[in-house]
Amino acid sequence: MRVLVIGSGAREHALVLALSHDPAVIALACAPGNAGIASLAESYGVDVGDPSAVADLAVEWRADLVIVGPEVPLVAGAADAVRDRGIACFGPSAAASRIEGSKAFAKDVMAAAGVPTAHGEIVDNPARLDAALRNFGPTWVVKDDGLAAGKGVAVTDDLAAARAHAMTLLDAGHPVLLETFLDGPEVSLFCLVDGTTVVPLLPAQDFKRVGDGDAGPNTGGMGAYAPLPWAPPGLVDEVVAKIVHPVAQELAGRGTPFTGLLYAGLALTAAGPQVIEFNCRFGDPETQAVLALLRSPLAALLHATATGALAAHPPLEWSEGSAVTVVIAAEGYPGYARSGDVITGSEADGVLHAGTRRREDGAIVSAGGRVLSVVGSGASLPEAREEAYRKVAAVHLPGSHHRTDIALRAVRGEISVV
Ligand code: AMP
Ligand code: GLY
Repeated sequence: MRVLVIGSGAREHALVLALSHDPAVIALACAPGNAGIASLAESYGVDVGDPSAVADLAVEWRADLVIVGPEVPLVAGAADAVRDRGIACFGPSAAASRIEGSKAFAKDVMAAAGVPTAHGEIVDNPARLDAALRNFGPTWVVKDDGLAAGKGVAVTDDLAAARAHAMTLLDAGHPVLLETFLDGPEVSLFCLVDGTTVVPLLPAQDFKRVGDGDAGPNTGGMGAYAPLPWAPPGLVDEVVAKIVHPVAQELAGRGTPFTGLLYAGLALTAAGPQVIEFNCRFGDPETQAVLALLRSPLAALLHATATGALAAHPPLEWSEGSAVTVVIAAEGYPGYARSGDVITGSEADGVLHAGTRRREDGAIVSAGGRVLSVVGSGASLPEAREEAYRKVAAVHLPGSHHRTDIALRAVRGEISVV
């Protein structure tokens, strides 16, 4: 199988790495990729936001399967464009990607499917903001209704801060979604969906805030681990039955079946699992931990998903242990991130690249906010965590920062579900 991966993050590096170990893959390409991916796959330039450019590349390269990593090309219709050219594509149509691209659409689908989620109210007129804020909080949850790379959300006990965040979004012309606060540990459950059949992967947890102890602003994700030693038995089956399957059915019933990875972001509240958000693609950085544990060959699995053949796929096989991912971010991230710094130690095993590029003199330099994802695995979560941080210590990027507490509360047994 000739497999083309679209994207340039550590998630795509993790996908490419897993595909490179799959004997069924005879050729592997990634566009646009990064300095780390380039050592495993042919690299091509492409404007990921242009569906016909993605489809043209798939045709020219004679891809048998295209895997679209990020949400931006999916929401723009890259998967539709690739499928229109007769090539199998792992990734939902633009219509089904609205489950991530529009929070209002996601709420509508969830209401129709009877799926538990936070109560929400859209505000698009600043004159109505104060009255709406009085219906919520404390704690206030203020979101950008559109795509915001994980950075459009403010969760705060400070009404003035909630109001200020909403005004910034409204001033930029973005409708704002106010939500009730969902209290409880968060879980990311990734499910392969081929239109009808749902196959869950291992549950994971990510760390959205920039600083230790969940301090500071939200980011695209600063670390993750899988599986979750504290998860109640039966959690995955319950979420598939009550949340993911009904949503897949609802989308299929609307004539826009979901094909690809449906990511359920959940809070395990006292009233049971509730949806914080859906994403229409693999999560980053959870994928880097989840795929480190997957033993089933990835290409056949994603091809089966892309072609409606998941029901006939053998059960997934996983390594027994745990995996932990720690993100190394550039100075300034999640604000303006410094780039162009030389990175050393980034070619080690378990170091996945995100914002990197190879300079003309051969040096690997930073080229983005989240620069590297370092993955450790081990027989237990503490061992995986130690390995991840051992590897982090061997990487050097001037001015960089990372969280030192990824998976720490889980290791200490401090997470409990009410
Ligand atoms: P989102 O962009 O919707 O993924 O939100 C980013 C992060 O904000 C989530 O991972 C949660 O940590 C937090 N968050 C979002 N919505 C809620 C909510 N209704 N209740 C509690 N936390 C939330
Ligand atoms: N891990 C959060 C995301 O991928 O959106």
